[in-house]
Amino acid sequence: MIAILGIGAWRAQRDLLEISSLIAFLLYTFQLMGPITELTQNTTALQAGIAAAGRIREVETLPTEPAGPVSAPAERPEVPDAEQPVLVFRGVTARYGPDAPAAVHDIDLAIPRRGHTAIVGPSGAGKTTLFSLILRFLEPERGQLLLDGRPYAAHGHDEVRARLAYVEQETPVVPGTIRDNLRFTHPDATDEEIRAVLRAVRLDDKVDSLPDGLDTSLSSTEVSGGQRQRIALARAMLRTPDVLLLDEATAQVDGLTEAALQECVRQRAAAGAVVTIAHRLSTVLDADRIVVMEHGRIRAQGTHSELLAGDDLYRRLVEALRIAAEGHAVAAGG
Ligand SMILES: Nc1ncnc2c1ncn2[C@@H]1O[C@H](COP(=O)(O)OP(=O)(O)OP(=O)(O)O)[C@@H](O)[C@H]1O
Ligand SMILES: [Mg+2]
Repeated sequence: MIAILGIGAWRAQRDLLEISSLIAFLLYTFQLMGPITELTQNTTALQAGIAAAGRIREVETLPTEPAGPVSAPAERPEVPDAEQPVLVFRGVTARYGPDAPAAVHDIDLAIPRRGHTAIVGPSGAGKTTLFSLILRFLEPERGQLLLDGRPYAAHGHDEVRARLAYVEQETPVVPGTIRDNLRFTHPDATDEEIRAVLRAVRLDDKVDSLPDGLDTSLSSTEVSGGQRQRIALARAMLRTPDVLLLDEATAQVDGLTEAALQECVRQRAAAGAVVTIAHRLSTVLDADRIVVMEHGRIRAQGTHSELLAGDDLYRRLVEALRIAAEGHAVAAGG
């Protein structure tokens, strides 16, 4: 428009152009402006769309899990034998890639139907890998896992995962409200059930203090790490799973939260199996049995006092946790 005005004015001054024509030209540009703005806006939208389509295509090309056989209900035992362990590892070796070193070797482990099993070990020992195997995120290279005495191969992926609840080491919060976050595995859960689990993890006061209560939308920036893990635990406990898998966050939580989490675990352990990867002394002391891992192998199993007497690595791990716990208490005391 400035160019038309400038050149037009210059030509009009030299009598090469009528003033009326100049005005007409200016009006034409006014009319063109709308469509041109629209065109640029649409181009931007188109580019965003192409980028999104590219990402959708990326997701579509990811290899999918092979669908396992879905067993007929008649094949399943009605009531599993209470004496039989719920999960069994039989000589399991697994690696993350064909060339990667084995992350766990020859694991033989039984998880009883009730009680609290804690897994301890140095970083990189293969603790999270055990959980990945239980959840079938990773398939064993050798050996097999059994659920209720039947090999995993005879269960579908969904069937196995429906029996488990998993609280990750780095727990994500999905965009959406608190209610959405708690209900996404069980969309039919009622508000009473949601309130009950929030009370169990001591988040009910926090939720009540929010202006929209359960409908407050969360983004990961607004909740602390400890609150995030408690939301994840509440989600896991919404419907009682057979096995609760809890990968404790390494960061220390405050004493009240710790007591709340411990109480939740204790309640679950009375009715079903709880397996925790313990990074806190209180969890280790609370467990019914402890599995010590080192370099991808199970080094020792037993109760706290047995291991304290018989296993050197366990003694050192507990000592390190004790120092961490004392350091935390001193820091908290100011
Ligand atoms: N996604 C992965 N891809 C390749 N290698 C992996 C992967 N995850 C873990 N590993 C390797 O497997 C081994 C065991 O890791 P794992 O995550 O089981 O350790 P961890 O005992 O859970 O440790 P931490 O206490 O630090 O969480 C490590 O040597 C690690 O490098
Ligand atoms: Mg881990």
